[in-house]
Amino acid sequence: MLVVGPNGAGKTNLLEALHVGTQGFSPRTRNDARLIRFGREGARIALTGDRAGSPLELNVILHAGAAKRASLNGARLQAAEQLRSEVAALVFTPDRLVVVKGGPAARRAYFDRALGRGTPAQAALPAEYGAALAQRNAALRGISLGYSTREALRPWTERVADLGTQLVAARGEVIAALEPLFATHAGELGLADAALRYEAETLSAEVLEERLDRDLERGATGTGPHLDDVEIRAGGRDLRAFGSQGEQRLAVLALLLAEAELVRERRGFPPLLLLDDVLSELDPDRRLILAERLRTYGQALITSTSAAALPAEPDQLVEVEAGDAGTVLR
Ligand SMILES: Nc1ncnc2c1ncn2[C@@H]1O[C@H](COP(=O)(O)OP(=O)(O)OP(=O)(O)O)[C@@H](O)[C@H]1O
Ligand SMILES: [Mg+2]
Repeated sequence: MLVVGPNGAGKTNLLEALHVGTQGFSPRTRNDARLIRFGREGARIALTGDRAGSPLELNVILHAGAAKRASLNGARLQAAEQLRSEVAALVFTPDRLVVVKGGPAARRAYFDRALGRGTPAQAALPAEYGAALAQRNAALRGISLGYSTREALRPWTERVADLGTQLVAARGEVIAALEPLFATHAGELGLADAALRYEAETLSAEVLEERLDRDLERGATGTGPHLDDVEIRAGGRDLRAFGSQGEQRLAVLALLLAEAELVRERRGFPPLLLLDDVLSELDPDRRLILAERLRTYGQALITSTSAAALPAEPDQLVEVEAGDAGTVLR
């Protein structure tokens, strides 16, 4: 489906509403009050669709100052974020380029979310590791300030080593599953010899004990998966540092298509693809390849300021004008 309209018409709004309605949160902000129309008390997103052939009805209700509420086929969910484990949606927005061109933290965050989507049972692991790390760092500072002891630190060292080892393994597994799919899709989009490589150091309680003096000096744990990175390569170059804007965009898209395939394989239904402003910076040949690829993936929404930007006929064209809900043209 192609969503067209001038700048400021509300295309990104529509896409964001679909994300909130299917995932329970916005890809743009954690501040739910910003999702409510200026001057209004609340907002409601109601969606109907089907999942693997069964009808699906989703409702998300937001109220300023209250927790959002969500229901699926009439049954209330405990938290709106639970929608994530029920319905899959993947989003591309121009800020996603940070996954390739930004610092390691942006890539860790991205692959940790991919880990949660690909292996929902391990979705909490990155946060659990982060919490243990914060406790260990607080204990390190406590020792330097004289109100904690090395003995009190030991359980945290063990917990960081244990959760860190699990996190490295889980990330390694999801990156290895994405890697061949990424290489294929990147190749189709014109990025030759594309590859992903998880750059991780092995972590253990011994490794942490060995560097304890340095960690005490810094007041922070200086090794572990909170410092890892993922190398993204194509054409013999590291795209993180040397990719052109267009190449970085293609790499982000190839990652998204790879994940779409992984989600379909693991969960049995294709994710909804929400692609905001994806066509700008792509040459006409690549736009055509992308449009053809997307057709084979279930449902995809692309926004653009002009219908001519998509060199293929969309199945549906929606025109968004400021001030109304949009018109389905065909
Ligand atoms: N909470 C809100 N209530 C009302 N309007 C808002 C709210 N948040 C943003 N807007 C406005 O909604 C309008 C539509 O924004 P949106 O980002 O959806 O436009 P767009 O069609 O994607 O434009 P572009 O082509 O520039 O990306 C903007 O003018 C924006 O300032
Ligand atoms: Mg927009």
